[in-house]
Amino acid sequence: MVFDIRKIREDFPETSRLVHNEPLVYFDNAASTLKCKPVIDSINEHYSLEAANIHRGVHFLSENGTIKYEATRESLRSLINAKQEHEVIFTKGTTESLNLVAKCYAETFLKKDDEILISTMEHHSNIVPWQMAAEKVGAKIREIPVNDEGDIIMEEYKKLLNDRTKLVSTCHISNSLGTINPIKEMISLAHEYGAIFVVDAAQSIAHEKIDVIDLDADFLAFSSHKMFGPTGIGVLYGKEDLLNKMPPYQGGGDMIDVVTIEKTTYNTLPHKFEAGTPHIAGGIALKEAVDYINQLGFEEVAKHEKMLLDFATEEISKIDGIRLIGTAKNKASVLSFVMEGAHPHDLGTLLDRQGVAIRTGHHCTQPLMKRMGVNATARASFSIYNTIEEIEFFIKALKKTKEFL
Ligand code: ALA
Repeated sequence: MVFDIRKIREDFPETSRLVHNEPLVYFDNAASTLKCKPVIDSINEHYSLEAANIHRGVHFLSENGTIKYEATRESLRSLINAKQEHEVIFTKGTTESLNLVAKCYAETFLKKDDEILISTMEHHSNIVPWQMAAEKVGAKIREIPVNDEGDIIMEEYKKLLNDRTKLVSTCHISNSLGTINPIKEMISLAHEYGAIFVVDAAQSIAHEKIDVIDLDADFLAFSSHKMFGPTGIGVLYGKEDLLNKMPPYQGGGDMIDVVTIEKTTYNTLPHKFEAGTPHIAGGIALKEAVDYINQLGFEEVAKHEKMLLDFATEEISKIDGIRLIGTAKNKASVLSFVMEGAHPHDLGTLLDRQGVAIRTGHHCTQPLMKRMGVNATARASFSIYNTIEEIEFFIKALKKTKEFL
């Protein structure tokens, strides 16, 4: 498909709204993307005409919902090139996916003095669950450091790996800096020591083609809401043999085989990890988001986002007193910065008054902020519907804000 930015913007109705009487410039895509019409229409259709529970009923609406929900699972399997549909587990999102692995894998299979490696640039959701698991079993967390540019220091990573390393988890793309990590090489190194590798793909799923077989990822987590889909639903991919040997995450309906008052036997994958009524409307609508990304094509997406990032980096670098935080060579469309004499929150508020939405703060990555020597940054993050004109407007707004402060 031709990358037609005008058409894409029409597909995302929110791009044409006003905020404080100014046209919205939405640069908070790393936090959550806007939603495309097919996703919105699907949710509307489900609740208007098709609401019913799935996996349970023999009536038309239940069966129809089950077929649609399971069609999303297949589209996700294909998106990440998993071998089997049942290796795609629906969760609430990346956070729940990571917690599931920490609880069901790490707490079950790790022992005292085993080591878990995570990098300095992890989101809190890829730090805290491992700490909680480590505390329970007596394992140790070890930190893979990053350099001043915001790249993982591969030499240090190699030194940290040893026979006690049982699990490594890092983000594919940093939400705060945009660094794209050499995940394939990192996975291969972890496997040399028999450690399993968990990929936090929350920031990469809508920006890069992910192939779990090529990466040889053991687990991979992502959220629908960062890929133009609904909030409240996400995915945990896991290799079949690992998922099979793990105990269930939660007890309830759908995850059981036979229940007696004394004992329960569990359902097969993926249902073993999907207790309770899921986010049916969200699951069905997520397929529309996957189809949308597929019809655009990852190459076109990458080209457009690189163009936006390069232009924004060049223009922002011309403003005196601005310092970019995160200057890795291999970066996704995230621009984190600080302005001399201005608190990021003030920047964010004043930009908002001009219609520009960015995120400010520690971005749920406090250890990384400490490493980069800041408490917080301002972060502009771009997506498929953003334009060069919006970046020009943002740069002007930033200059105005600078004068004001
Ligand atoms: N993890 C999301 C962000 O980076 C919420 O903003």
